[in-house]
Amino acid sequence: MNQKKISDASGYIKEQLKETPLIGLILGSGLGVLGEEIENPVIIPYTDIPHFPESTVSGHKGQLVVGILEGKQVIAMQGRFHYYEGYSMEQVTFPIRVMKDLGIKSIIVTNAAGGINESFQPGDLMLITDHINNMGNNPLIGKNDDELGARFPDMSQGYDREYIKHAETCANEIGISVQKGVYVGNTGPAYETPAEVRMLKIIGGDAVGMSTVPEVIVSRHAGIRVLGISCISNMAAGILDQPLTHHEVIETTEKVRENFLKFVKKIISTLP
Ligand code: HPA
Repeated sequence: MNQKKISDASGYIKEQLKETPLIGLILGSGLGVLGEEIENPVIIPYTDIPHFPESTVSGHKGQLVVGILEGKQVIAMQGRFHYYEGYSMEQVTFPIRVMKDLGIKSIIVTNAAGGINESFQPGDLMLITDHINNMGNNPLIGKNDDELGARFPDMSQGYDREYIKHAETCANEIGISVQKGVYVGNTGPAYETPAEVRMLKIIGGDAVGMSTVPEVIVSRHAGIRVLGISCISNMAAGILDQPLTHHEVIETTEKVRENFLKFVKKIISTLP
């Protein structure tokens, strides 16, 4: 990872900000609306930021929104970079390095995911307790920059336990129920086969998606505390006897929009 590229990007962003963002937000498929709640937003399209890749999927906007949410300085990514789009792992996780350089201490990573756990229902929100990297790659492969993090970073608490507890308390307070579980990161872009979903269940997965794992690995490498939230947009292939579509994924995330917004705002307002 090239430190100059990181500081080029963060320098460009800093020029436009008056305050230092403390909380990063990655808004997944259909969940970008949270960015619209940010007050006094500074909006920066990815295409304007030096060395930032361009987002290519519909349902993803491709811009940073920086400002105040629930009294906290936040920096939100409306749209992320996926490995299946053809970006390298370094490109996928570049924004994390940049947000770290800007000063964030915590990150809330969100995604849409298919439910593997049969007690889940489409529309459920799941707090990610842990992940399984099933992508066959790792963003930290290559020469390690010791200034950025350890060669062999600990992943025993990838998802911050205090944050999970905090999020559960918030869910109780606003009267919504949330699931907890293990997120499996697959490359996509094809959805899983029913046989693959059965395998993912056996290896301990509760939900499956095509993002998040690289960003969380790099966040932990950088010492950023992570909270992960999956919106269960559909049941994974083969659980119900029906085909999967991206349309269904977006439709479900739109249905849970109100709960999702309320939940994440509550979490941010009192995040330790
Ligand atoms: N599988 C993989 N990624 C997904 C799914 C799924 O079922 N739903 C939303 N993202």
